[in-house]
Amino acid sequence: MPSPSLIPSGKARVAGVAGWPVAHSRSPRIHGFWLRRYGIDGAYVPLAIRPDQFDLAVRGLAAAGFSGINVTVPHKRAAFELCDVLSPAARRAGAANTLVFQDGQISGDNTDGWGFLASLRERGIDPAAGPALLLGAGGSSRAIAASLQEGGVTVTLANRTRERAEAMARDLPGLRVIDWEQRSAALGDQALLVNTTTLGMAGQPALSIDLDRAGPRTAVADIVYVPLETPLLAQARARGLTTVDGLGLLLHQARPGFAAWFGVAPEVDAALRDFVLADLLPA
Ligand code: ATR
Repeated sequence: MPSPSLIPSGKARVAGVAGWPVAHSRSPRIHGFWLRRYGIDGAYVPLAIRPDQFDLAVRGLAAAGFSGINVTVPHKRAAFELCDVLSPAARRAGAANTLVFQDGQISGDNTDGWGFLASLRERGIDPAAGPALLLGAGGSSRAIAASLQEGGVTVTLANRTRERAEAMARDLPGLRVIDWEQRSAALGDQALLVNTTTLGMAGQPALSIDLDRAGPRTAVADIVYVPLETPLLAQARARGLTTVDGLGLLLHQARPGFAAWFGVAPEVDAALRDFVLADLLPA
């Protein structure tokens, strides 16, 4: 007989994660861990929603009494467009990953940038310590760049397809764009290097960059978390540089949603990290 405290009651608050596909999402594991840890009467479920059904499904979830949802690939832009109210972070990123349903309204936030900054602080890095070099111009890069800029950091962006970087710079004034080939040469001035490309991910080629060009106090972050230590992070560690892996962002970005839906501000600690990591490691 499982502990009755772990079984949702009729009054349970309900949230989930919308994606297509959604089977790869680690969010149910993260939120499920916190629900148990804090003994909350609630549930958090995966929601496989086809792109052409997204609006209908989200309005249905709100009507059905869900407290809110996380939104993952490929729905973050559609979520942004559907919201009645948007946080400044969602507006800057042009995408929403956390929706709260309340009083007939859908409010959208983007917690990726916030989660990234929290993952730096967890490693003892001051996100505002100095300029940052960002590699990649996808959705995560946009959210991270906006948050760094918000903290007063000068951000330089390099992307293989320069036009995508230029498009980002049009939305984020002050962003400095350089050619992809200039990424190593630009390292010398940076307090922080962030890889937001898919390079270094399991099955993808490694990111090639000359870390000898970085100063001794440059911190190196990767948002890739499979593998946890990417070739970039391994190189940085071998040089004695401070490293930040992608699991921190994944865990921290989940905190604001959980707090809004379930009423408890959750903590990221070693036990949560190990629990999520156990699911990332090959069996
Ligand atoms: P997100 O999930 O953050 O939205 P995405 O849109 O899938 O990311 O973008 C992946 C990023 O990895 C892009 O910046 C992509 O560069 P392009 O804009 O030129 O496509 C980058 N990327 C993927 N493969 C790459 C490679 N072999 N070399 C350099 N950059 C690469």
